[in-house]
Amino acid sequence: MQEQLKGINIYLIGMMGSGKSTIGRLLAKQLGYRFIDTDDLISQTTHRSITDIFATEGEAVFRELESQVLSEICAYKKFVVATGGGIILKQMNWSYLRHGMIIWLNVPVEELYNRLKEDQTRPLLQHPDPLQQLQTLLKQRQSLYNQADLEITINAGGIPQQVVIQILEKIPTILKPQSHGLN
Ligand code: S3P
Repeated sequence: MQEQLKGINIYLIGMMGSGKSTIGRLLAKQLGYRFIDTDDLISQTTHRSITDIFATEGEAVFRELESQVLSEICAYKKFVVATGGGIILKQMNWSYLRHGMIIWLNVPVEELYNRLKEDQTRPLLQHPDPLQQLQTLLKQRQSLYNQADLEITINAGGIPQQVVIQILEKIPTILKPQSHGLN
């Protein structure tokens, strides 16, 4: 499969709390790829936390930084990339994501809520009703996440290693045999 992939990057998309970083790290290891997280890269290059950027500059500035790091990453090969949950909002970002294979980690909203209810690092969830907020965000984004090349549904209790096995099994089904890209 590594041969068929030809080093194209794998972009994990999905809501916050869907496990993009945990699964991405494991997947990268299995594929002999490097791993990168767009939020981490933004924090490293700006020397600021995501919360701080949202609080002082606002979401629009954060989204610009996000597009910038994505455009830089897509110049490289052999990366598994965990993207921020809102990366799919900008049409421009799709032209970067489409350089590689896009995998949507689809986790039920109640499970996202369970994973994130104590979390203070997601500015968009600092809201009186975070469950409602997650539902609203997913409703706005679902049709965009749906444009991924592959959807992986993860139920409550889904073990990351098993999700990675599932991904590895499904990747060949969307690769054209002996060709240069996706079906
Ligand atoms: C966001 C998700 C976060 C981060 C920022 C905005 C979103 O990333 O980029 O807080 O709009 O869903 P994770 O999906 O890694 O939590």
